[in-house]
Amino acid sequence: MVETMDLRIVPDTATLFQAAATEFASQVDSTLKSSDRFTVALSGGSTPKGLFTLLASNYRDRLPWNRIFFFWGDERHVPPDSAESNYRMASEALLSKVPVPPGNIFRVPTENPDADQAAEEYEQTLRDFFHPAPGTFPQFDLILLGMGPDGHTASLFPGTEALQEKSRFVVANWVDKFKTHRITFTAPLINQAKMVEFLVAGSDKSPALHEVLEGNQPTELYPSKLIRPVNGRLIWLVDKAAAASLPRKSA
Ligand code: 6PG
Repeated sequence: MVETMDLRIVPDTATLFQAAATEFASQVDSTLKSSDRFTVALSGGSTPKGLFTLLASNYRDRLPWNRIFFFWGDERHVPPDSAESNYRMASEALLSKVPVPPGNIFRVPTENPDADQAAEEYEQTLRDFFHPAPGTFPQFDLILLGMGPDGHTASLFPGTEALQEKSRFVVANWVDKFKTHRITFTAPLINQAKMVEFLVAGSDKSPALHEVLEGNQPTELYPSKLIRPVNGRLIWLVDKAAAASLPRKSA
């Protein structure tokens, strides 16, 4: 188990989303005490929708949305109005319901039929926004991640090329099981964040969670193991069902 990692196990998804919303708000508050902006990369899939819905309702009048800048840690190579689009999900559940200026929302340009070009464009968007020094990576204040039953995170899937990437911020990753490209942040970029937070729910995730936190299988097979922030905090917010296989001391 990663010594600097903070594992929080909660009874159910409602408590998970509330804990994630509380953490989000406190990260925004503490960051904006010393910075004029808060940068966050959202995760996709189904799990974060509950968090987004809670932020849009209970935190709508509580957060300075004009100082929060939204990016995506990964995206499906589908148009932004597709039902599969992570952008569309976040837009419908959160961004269209809070007063965030459109200029604060940086989605992946997935309408570009060339996935490699879309990834390069998004990497350039990060360069234009963060102005990282040559040879360094942008530093997000918060990167939200999920984990699949196969141990993948963002769109870093087992056995895929993107797992080897050492210098790019964003790549187009061919995922053979879906016969498509995904556009994804690389592990080196994710590991530069001030805070990385996994949201994991459901019993279907418990074998992979046990392996990622306790097992010895190679990272190639469980890419979530690649996520070890260099200077930042790592939080695993998981529900009891997902934590079911973890040894008692951590449960
Ligand atoms: C995606 C995600 C992916 C997701 C996991 C978990 O685009 O699908 O970014 O990494 O976080 O697959 O997905 P669920 O939350 O739906 O279980």
